[in-house]
Amino acid sequence: MSRMAKKKNKAAKSKKQKFIGLDSDGNPPEFPYVLTTSSSIHNRGLFAAKDIPQDAYIIQYLGEKVSKTDATQIGLDQLESSQFTNEGSVYLFDLDEKHDLDGNFDWNIARLANHSCNPNCEAQDIEGEIWFVALCDIREDDELTFDYGYALEHWKEHPCRCGSRSCIGYIVRADDRKQLKRILKASA
Ligand SMILES: C[S@@+](CC[C@H](N)C(=O)[O-])C[C@H]1O[C@@H](n2cnc3c(N)ncnc32)[C@H](O)[C@@H]1O
Ligand SMILES: [Zn+2]
Repeated sequence: MSRMAKKKNKAAKSKKQKFIGLDSDGNPPEFPYVLTTSSSIHNRGLFAAKDIPQDAYIIQYLGEKVSKTDATQIGLDQLESSQFTNEGSVYLFDLDEKHDLDGNFDWNIARLANHSCNPNCEAQDIEGEIWFVALCDIREDDELTFDYGYALEHWKEHPCRCGSRSCIGYIVRADDRKQLKRILKASA
């Protein structure tokens, strides 16, 4: 199962929950740079509500800190339910060696960001918080995308429809794309 470099299940509910990014009343912060609407890449996406300068901290990826063990089951449950809906299948972010961030909550609108092979944002780990940072100046209404950073291993399961000129056809991290090109050429 791929995690981004991703519904609460029984295991998570039965343990003490640790939400990241909510205020003391349990409310998410406001992120004025973003809005959500339908995307040509997939279902819904995250878009620039106004011009965004390069290096701006755009939005924090909110969620619940869960163990890798719980995350594996959460991911499998989400993958299964996504086969019956048009929803995304992965809302898990790698946090550290032992933990993932489960972002499958409606108050985490950053979960709607789609992948691009030529992204305009980068997901950065800022002291345990995941932030989308602008890689370039971004124009109002542009879709906000980042590199999901998926490993080569499960490339066939993740066709890419980002539409960028450099799109390789599958969601694979930048470092593995040359190798995937060789695989695709050999199998052509
Ligand atoms: C975290 S969700 C992103 C939000 C999703 N668009 C939605 O409406 O729920 C991740 C899922 O979106 C889809 N997705 C994201 N980027 C994509 C891309 N470049 N090409 C095809 N599907 C993509 C895949 O189904 C992926 O599992
Ligand atoms: Zn692509």
